[in-house]
Amino acid sequence: MNAKIAAAKRASELVEDGMIIGIGSGTTVELFLTELKKRIESEGLEILGVPSSYQSKLLAVEAGIGLVDLLECPTLDMCIDGADEVDRNLNAVKGGGGAMTREKVVAHASNEVVFIVEERKVVETLSHPVPVEVIPFSLGFVLKKLEELMKECGSFALPRIRQGTGKLGPVVTDNGNFILDCDFGEIYDPGELEIELNSIPGVVECGIFTDVADRVIVGVDGGETYEIS
Ligand code: A5P
Repeated sequence: MNAKIAAAKRASELVEDGMIIGIGSGTTVELFLTELKKRIESEGLEILGVPSSYQSKLLAVEAGIGLVDLLECPTLDMCIDGADEVDRNLNAVKGGGGAMTREKVVAHASNEVVFIVEERKVVETLSHPVPVEVIPFSLGFVLKKLEELMKECGSFALPRIRQGTGKLGPVVTDNGNFILDCDFGEIYDPGELEIELNSIPGVVECGIFTDVADRVIVGVDGGETYEIS
């Protein structure tokens, strides 16, 4: 927990008065918003933000961040988000919380993108299962295409329809879609896989993020941080 808090606190220090920020989702972002809330209250910062999920929308309101959307503010100053796994080339797998589509939009809308992670999430080669958001109409077709692609990549796993907790049946995203978790094993060319996944008709977005992060703040257990950039 110390590692997460350290990364979240460091990121909160990067936010300047008057900024419009992209707000990711997840437990590390929740800690970031807790830290930012302290600065908003003590320093009187005025911050606007575009949240990437209902989770971060509720937390942003609680933190005293003014909500705006991409129609009003298509360019954001900075995006802060967590990740499930990152490599040393600033590639990441995201979507453990099912919010990767909006997370990718706010990241690409931002002038600077910062991921905040605990050290255990930093790897040499990405291998976390990749979440793929799919429109329900296309489910059978996309399952077949993903199965073929996973086989081509040498994986014997099958795409898994993510199941909800607290409600029966599949997870339905904030966009009204399903999520398929795909275990490709080690991902040697994340950029290529991101393109291939996103070119399947019916796929809305996948959880591979390449060419978007400017730096990663890594928290370690002792409470220190370091950066990958
Ligand atoms: C949400 O969909 C994800 O992309 C999160 O950013 C990611 O899963 C990291 O979450 P935690 O900060 O909870 O580990």
